[in-house]
Amino acid sequence: MKNRVFSGARPTGRQHLGNYLGAIQNYVNLQDEYDCIYCIVDIHALTTLDDTSSLQKNIHEMMLDWLAAGLDPRKSILFVQSHVPEVTELHTLLSMVTPLSWLLRVPTFKEKVKLQPQNVNYGLVGYPVLMTADIVLYKAGVVPVGEDQLPHLELAREIARRFNNLFGDTFPEPEAKLTTFPLILGLDGKEKMSKQLDNDIELALSDEETAARVMEAVTDPARRYRSDPGHPKICNIFRLHGYFNPFQSDNLAEQCRSAEIGCVDCKKALAQEINSTLKSFRERRAKLAEKPEYIVNVLADGASRARVIARETIKEVKQNMRLL
Ligand code: TRP
Repeated sequence: MKNRVFSGARPTGRQHLGNYLGAIQNYVNLQDEYDCIYCIVDIHALTTLDDTSSLQKNIHEMMLDWLAAGLDPRKSILFVQSHVPEVTELHTLLSMVTPLSWLLRVPTFKEKVKLQPQNVNYGLVGYPVLMTADIVLYKAGVVPVGEDQLPHLELAREIARRFNNLFGDTFPEPEAKLTTFPLILGLDGKEKMSKQLDNDIELALSDEETAARVMEAVTDPARRYRSDPGHPKICNIFRLHGYFNPFQSDNLAEQCRSAEIGCVDCKKALAQEINSTLKSFRERRAKLAEKPEYIVNVLADGASRARVIARETIKEVKQNMRLL
């Protein structure tokens, strides 16, 4: 049997370049080497959402992006977390072997407490326990994630280890697999690209919308006039060129440093590169968007395949805990 990969992503709706370079491409590439399970974690989303009116739409849009990018339901299991309710059962059982002190130390928890002091709910503290349940329910050994998720993964390993020590060998200790492009900065050139910060470029934009968005980006702040020499090393547009057109980027850096090209030229070139890279993605997406029932079917099939594995694990867990 191939080693199993599991990864989850929150239902943030239409995906952006950061999601694509940092996660989705990696998911796609892993499909041939591993048995992959990719999950849209709608229950996790509830830890920070009080308005769920866009949840279904976001799940749908995100799935469209995943499929158009090459996630293949014939190769991988693609499903929505809440469609396999066994994960909540495992979450409860794992919560009994997880010391509260481990959870209170998690950096993302501390950040969330600062960000949403009015909504520090019980589920938020348990976020990493639910994430552990996601992974170990499928006995996944490999978890592709970005750097920000490493503390969660460390905790998942500790919880799995503790469970195994208490109740006998049940779960493999999952290993993080860092993506090749761990951090994509947004149009502000400062923060991680994110929809919430409105510094993102959505994959599903038209060519014109992409170009307009790229034009808004911050470049080298010291370069005020067209004739000023630029500093590509600190410029996010240059960095993005490196992802989309790596062979041209040395050349471009030289032209920037010598002020042979201005930021507008450089941005136009980047928009063109993004648009040509995403051309076939956008065509596939438009076709898929015409068949909403196809997405529903993919997700139903994914959930039923996931559930077969989930039920088996739950049975074993309960036997090992003497609940059966
Ligand atoms: N916490 C992850 C994030 O915010 C999402 C996630 C939930 C996840 N469950 C997972 C990632 C299991 C990997 C494996 O990005």
